[in-house]
Amino acid sequence: MTQIDKTKPVMVTGATGYVASWLVKKLLEEGITVHAAVRDPNKKEKVAHLDAIAEKSKGTIKYFKSDLLDKGSYAEAMKDCELVFHTASPFTLDVKDPQKDLIDPAVQGTANVLETANHTPSVRRVVVTSSCAAIYCDAIECEQLPGGKLTEDIWNTTASRDYQPYSYSKTLAEKKAWEMVKAQTQWDLVTINPSFVMGPPLNPKATTSESFNILKQMGDGTMKSGAPRMAIGLVDVRDVAEAHFQAGFTPSAHGRYITSGHNTNFYEMAMTLQPKFGGDYPLPKKAIPKWLLMIIGPMVNKAFSRKMIKRNIDVEWKADNSKIKNELGVRFRPMEESMVDGFQAMVDNHIFDKK
Ligand SMILES: NC(=O)c1ccc[n+]([C@@H]2O[C@H](COP(=O)([O-])OP(=O)(O)OC[C@H]3O[C@@H](n4cnc5c(N)ncnc54)[C@H](OP(=O)(O)O)[C@@H]3O)[C@@H](O)[C@H]2O)c1
Repeated sequence: MTQIDKTKPVMVTGATGYVASWLVKKLLEEGITVHAAVRDPNKKEKVAHLDAIAEKSKGTIKYFKSDLLDKGSYAEAMKDCELVFHTASPFTLDVKDPQKDLIDPAVQGTANVLETANHTPSVRRVVVTSSCAAIYCDAIECEQLPGGKLTEDIWNTTASRDYQPYSYSKTLAEKKAWEMVKAQTQWDLVTINPSFVMGPPLNPKATTSESFNILKQMGDGTMKSGAPRMAIGLVDVRDVAEAHFQAGFTPSAHGRYITSGHNTNFYEMAMTLQPKFGGDYPLPKKAIPKWLLMIIGPMVNKAFSRKMIKRNIDVEWKADNSKIKNELGVRFRPMEESMVDGFQAMVDNHIFDKK
């Protein structure tokens, strides 16, 4: 049982990110002082949306310059905090050097943040943003599981440097966090494991999150000839922020929490956009067949290898989200709301043109 004092500052790593921005908004609205650890506090276009929220909220935001690969760079931001949210980690699928671009920042970054927690006596709880990617590698694995669903007991055992390296980076980083919590008694650890996050960005220009690339590809015509039935889970970014908040402030929160609202695929996701946006934007109208994807997928993006297509297209992704609902009271928005609000935010920010 860890009771966090809301009058103490709370630290958020990667505070300008897609997911973290909504968490910072929630904290500020609750009147909390946020220590925002970011790579470049002077980049106005990255922090302006948070400043605007802070101005209208009871809480206060203070920025600190920190980098996952710079040892000790989180110390100043963490000073006097009881609660640390560690969200920073690169989320991109198209990388040149998986070790340098994904694994090092994810794993060394987690180690740096938690090592700093060990040296900061005020820290009592750390909430790490992990991922369902640390639970499974390919959707086809669900078929072999007891009950056919992913649960918090399962770990991704098949991702590697060469195959699904982002998932590998998240698996290694979460393992590192569980290893480090066991080695001390000062703070406890809770992980939030979201599936694919959707919904409106607070600042689409401040992030390169892969969540936008998919939405962008649905709206800019890239998927005009069809969307893949790529099996995934989906969760709204606002629900992910609420999940983090509850994980931080619920004294009994413990272990991992699958944070996923819906078992779906890219084709079904795209179809939710048709009624409102189909007339104006070149959205996909049908599913692209698996055989065709096997030919063109690897040419379009090296992350779409034949092995990946075989193991994730035309199969079902299923996860059990009962732990977070029962223990933290988190509820999930309908998928249509996440998709439509997310797309509308892209339209409002002129991310793509009408057809
Ligand atoms: N989006 C999803 O579908 C999804 C699903 C499951 C889990 N997650 C996890 O959620 C977290 C946030 O992802 P997101 O989708 O919000 O993506 P995002 O907007 O790209 O956020 C990633 C954050 O990490 C920071 N970061 C990256 N490399 C860094 C470095 N070397 N030093 C310091 N900060 C660094 C980025 O800082 P800059 O702003 O300076 O670039 C950014 O603030 C990640 O841990 C991700 O793995 C995301």
